[in-house]
Amino acid sequence: MVIELDDVTTRLADAGFIAAREEAEELLECSEGDDRVLASMIERRLRGEPLAWITGFAMFCGSKIRVDRGVYVPRWQSEPLARRAATRLPAQGRAIDLCTGSGAIAKTLQLSRPGARIVASDLDDRAVHCAGSNGVEVYGGDLFAPLPRDLEGTVDVVVGVVPYVPTRSLRLLPRDTMVFESTLSYDGGEDGVHILRRVVRESGRFLRPGGALLIELGGDEVELLQDDLTGQQFTDVETLFDDDGDVRGLEATFNK
Ligand SMILES: C[S@@+](CC[C@H](N)C(=O)[O-])C[C@H]1O[C@@H](n2cnc3c(N)ncnc32)[C@H](O)[C@@H]1O
Repeated sequence: MVIELDDVTTRLADAGFIAAREEAEELLECSEGDDRVLASMIERRLRGEPLAWITGFAMFCGSKIRVDRGVYVPRWQSEPLARRAATRLPAQGRAIDLCTGSGAIAKTLQLSRPGARIVASDLDDRAVHCAGSNGVEVYGGDLFAPLPRDLEGTVDVVVGVVPYVPTRSLRLLPRDTMVFESTLSYDGGEDGVHILRRVVRESGRFLRPGGALLIELGGDEVELLQDDLTGQQFTDVETLFDDDGDVRGLEATFNK
């Protein structure tokens, strides 16, 4: 029996998938005409597994990024932050992508500034392997700890989509997120800024004077970080908003 596009679309649509047609097309393409493979892919998707884990990739800023099972799937909502980070990076500059996951942001920077040196870190071995397979210079470990010391004081851009969801709000994330993904990707501690605060405090060791810090966050987290930003000599602090007017990130300049 040959499984047709319309059959797959109907099954996904009946299960409540909004982009059923697009997802069905991707699954069909990835199954390369093998019905058994396709049937297994459909079952995994119907159980709520992220599409990118099934197909093995996600699109980010127009590039195809390999995403291994268990690795955070890069979100289109983070694309503006990545693009903005690229504007702060000189052609021959240096950048750090913290908590890189699949390496999507690091890869975006590398593609827009081929002459720059981009390094990245992540605590999760699966992410480190995945980012490496996407061509990223990635180091395993906690935030800045594993990064090459020769970069200290020279970096133009520190960017990061680090965990920033307050622990009490984790239960509000979509059900499939918590079933399949790791809280390591999301849990920002009691007030959400536990890791963000460490990023602000530790960035100064790597940034050059005039370098930029760009981090994703939400809600009232810019205010929660304000004292740390001031204390660490960050100026020109700008809150970044998405098209709905919601807080989406922060950009600041290091002025030591
Ligand atoms: C929200 S995901 C973001 C991944 C990637 N930046 C992206 O946008 O696709 C957060 C990532 O941070 C990593 N992580 C969590 N705590 C970390 C830490 N203390 N140091 C390094 N990486 C960490 C997780 O393993 C996960 O890959």
